[in-house]
Formats: sequence, C-alpha cells, structure tokens
Amino acid sequence: MRGYFITFEGGEGSGKSTQAQLLYYWFKDNGHEAILTREPGGTELAEKLRDIVVKGNKQLNVYTEMLMFMTARSDHWHNCIKPALDAGNIVICDRFQDSTFVYQCICENCDIHLVNCIYEKITGNMHPDCTFIIDIDPVVGLQRSFSKENNTDLRFESKALDFHKSVRAGYLSIAKSSERYQIIDGSRSVPEVQKAIINKLNLNT
Ligand code: TYD
Repeated sequence: MRGYFITFEGGEGSGKSTQAQLLYYWFKDNGHEAILTREPGGTELAEKLRDIVVKGNKQLNVYTEMLMFMTARSDHWHNCIKPALDAGNIVICDRFQDSTFVYQCICENCDIHLVNCIYEKITGNMHPDCTFIIDIDPVVGLQRSFSKENNTDLRFESKALDFHKSVRAGYLSIAKSSERYQIIDGSRSVPEVQKAIINKLNLNT
C-alpha cells in the first residue's frame, strides 16, 4: 500500500516550514503515522549538500546548483521518502521538485528537459499527491526571513527582489498545470493559514 505524499512550496519567508510542522502534529494528533522532512536535506548526505548550497553567498553555476539539489533529492528519495511511502506513511516534505522547477528552471533558465529526465530516473516520475503553495508578497516574505533569529541559510534570500518576484510568478503559473496544487494565501495569521490547509486536504482523516 502506498502512503500519501504532501509537499510545501513557496518563496522565502512564506511560512511554509511552520505550516509543514503544524500539519505534521495535526496528523499525529489525529492518530496517523506521518514523517516530516525537508529539501535540500532529510538524510545525512543531503544535509551536507544543503550546507554547501543554501549557506553563505558563494557564486555557483546554475548547473552546479541544480545537480546538487538533484543529488540531495536522489539520496533523500531512495533512503527516506520512498521507503516511508512504501510503508504506507504520510510524508510531509518542506520543498521538493517544484522548487527546482521554479528556482533553477523558470528563474535561472536551467534546461527543463534535462531536469525532468533526471527526476524521472530518480523517482520513476512519481509526484506528490498534494502540493501546498504558500503565496506571499516577496517584500513581506523577505522581511520575515531576514528578521528570523539565527537564520544562516540566506544564500537565496540575498538575491535581488526581481528574482523573488519571478519565484512568486513561477509558482502561480505552475499551479495551473495540475490539480495537485493548492494555492494558500500566506499573508494571514498562522492559525488561519493552517485552517485553510486542513480544509483543502483531500484525505479521509
Ligand atoms: P529552505 O531552507 O526551505 O528556504 P526557506 O526556509 O527560505 O523556504 O530552502 C533553501 C533555499 O533553497 C530556498 O531559497 C530555495 C532553494 N532551493 C532551490 O533553489 N532549489 C531546490 O530544488 C530546493 C529544494 C531549494
């Protein structure tokens, strides 16, 4: 039996990590087996790659960057996400392939066919069952991100506002391509956003 795969996506400071965590506890409280994980990260190897790719302000070629995200994803998929889904669990993941599609392909012109091809080889083209896109004005999101205490993962935040505007537009455009996407207005309070997410969940809980 296959589990249920939920991903959270959105720009910087959208509140998606908070919402992913709240949803995880909501499932637990309602008696469901769930795991909470993140990208880049989720395994020892992928967390090491995360440190390289999201911290500091190093300049990386977009293909170097994309291949690091995909390498991390491959390890995470095979050693964490797939085994959990195969065991029938609910998997909640903070960012996944849509981040690569939006950040590297739409915003940085990385070859989409190449990225899709690598993704297919890694996952057999399995996609999340449900993806919440937490939508926020990047000006507000960046303010939230920079005011977070001890936030050292700021490599992407440091990019120009135009980059973040195209991230937002990218997410809103991909949302039209499949019914698995749910756009959630992230400008509301944390409990209001959580309520909207639970209401949209297409699960018999
Ligand atoms: P994350 O820590 O989730 O950022 P935040 O907490 O600000 O949402 O992810 C780190 C950064 O990595 C984020 O700015 C987006 C970027 N990223 C990509 O560009 N491509 C990817 O495939 C992934 C997974 C993340």
